[in-house]
Amino acid sequence: MKKINKICCIGAGYVGGPTMAVLADKCPHLEINVVDINENRIKAWNDRDLSKLPIFEPGLTEIIKKRRNQNLFFTTEIEKNIKNAEMIFISVNTPTKESGIGAGFASDLRWIESCARQIAEHSEGFTIVVEKSTLPVRTAEKIKSILNSTLKNHNPKTINNKFAVLSNPEFLSEGTAINDLINPDRVLIGGDNIEAISLLEDIYSCWIDKDKILKTNIWSSELSKLIANAFLAQRISSINSVSALCEKTGANVLEVSKAIGMDSRIGKKFLNAGPGFGGSCFKKDILNLIYISEFYGLKEVANYWKSILDINYWQQNRISSIIIEKLFGTIAGKKISIFGFAFKANTNDTRESPAISICKNLLNEGCKLLIYDPKVNEKEISSILGKSSSSQDNHMGYWRKFNTIFDSVENTDAIVIMTEWEEFKYIDWVKISKRMRKPSWIFDTRNICNKKEIEKTNINFWQVGIGKEN
Ligand code: NAD
Ligand code: UGA
Repeated sequence: MKKINKICCIGAGYVGGPTMAVLADKCPHLEINVVDINENRIKAWNDRDLSKLPIFEPGLTEIIKKRRNQNLFFTTEIEKNIKNAEMIFISVNTPTKESGIGAGFASDLRWIESCARQIAEHSEGFTIVVEKSTLPVRTAEKIKSILNSTLKNHNPKTINNKFAVLSNPEFLSEGTAINDLINPDRVLIGGDNIEAISLLEDIYSCWIDKDKILKTNIWSSELSKLIANAFLAQRISSINSVSALCEKTGANVLEVSKAIGMDSRIGKKFLNAGPGFGGSCFKKDILNLIYISEFYGLKEVANYWKSILDINYWQQNRISSIIIEKLFGTIAGKKISIFGFAFKANTNDTRESPAISICKNLLNEGCKLLIYDPKVNEKEISSILGKSSSSQDNHMGYWRKFNTIFDSVENTDAIVIMTEWEEFKYIDWVKISKRMRKPSWIFDTRNICNKKEIEKTNINFWQVGIGKEN
């Protein structure tokens, strides 16, 4: 059996970058080339100033410092690295299709297809192609068909000797990616080529116990990734639906989630009520699941998963409405401070962040948003909310980004906690309250503020899922 020496990973994004960094660290005998068509991204990965890496992820810079240009390389030389690699990970984006058949639901597989075509054209010798991106079930069939169609000799024996396609979905969460990669709950490998599976297993075995490496058929592996995300999202929508019920009945969602989470059959993780789930994957993967279910004629299944997304939109709109209502039903011209724009703490990623829809809802009412986030920069916010402006037109809301909490609260009517950044737990509310306009409000959509500190001030306090006892 051959040994793997050279790996190419196509896609230097949130998955490709950290995954290959950990692989390079744990397997110093491997040469790993991470390639991308985005020159700026590759430049940023190669920046001498490690604070300029394209992705913020705790623990990542230390590994990059150690492994970059040792056995880990970031480059735009795609063809050369495909040619030299014995194993190729496909880690490119698979967003929701924006137009055509399945628009708004199905995955747009154009980047996957272009990878398959590039591999077909440039690879040499037996090549193992590993699906790392999240894909609709049965995508491997399409990849195989593209790879095999380029072979001159269509003899099935030759085909099996040239390519093996494996599914190896990634389960990391942003913000804890390095730890998730070093200590995964499981590694899933789907496929039917025993040699290829065993070579990939050998790589993971450098740091992961064999009993955590699960081998399945390729369709189970592809589907399990979608289902894992759908189940996680389903828990969040469930607890968010309960949060509204708590607010109406006088129950406390923190107490309810603790009480139910102690049932070992339910478990305590992923029961934090909040402003709705964000991130690049939950929504797109559920949309994809809905599309697949409908494709196979399973309307009820599709409707079940659709309701998870419906609750998520509803929670975001519900919170926007509460903010407006508490501020006397009108926020035109008022200042509202937004604490956190990332979709969760410890990442600079804003994709599908609940802050986006809530900010847009508030801007539509004509307010001024004063935004603070420790990791998301102004350019990123501009690309989402449009240019920051200081227009005095009262009909149009506008936003500004601030670099400190203190600067972002001057004369503000309300503060909305959108992301659960650690620093928001330790705010000096007495100091902050002095800068706010009265009556002032805090809307804590993450239940992380220090209630005792807030009670020392005259700020009104709303928390998601906390009903009034009397
Ligand atoms: P991303 O957008 O951050 O990165 C994808 C990269 O692929 C981009 O830099 C893009 O330029 C590059 N690319 C696209 N086509 C290319 C091509 N033909 N050749 C070279 N480079 C190409 O995406 P991501 O967040 O890393 O997600 C990648 C995949 O992993 C998706 O399928 C996603 O669902 C899945 N996933 C993501 C996460 C996550 O936390 N972000 C976790 C698990 C799985
Ligand atoms: C999620 C999954 O957790 C990963 O296993 C998966 O690999 C990844 O998607 C993916 O496929 O992209 P991620 O989106 O990075 O990871 O982050 P999560 O921690 O899952 O959080 C997702 C969203 O749910 C965030 O907006 C978060 O604030 C929210 N959330 C999470 C809650 O509102 N409540 C919770 O209890 C947990």
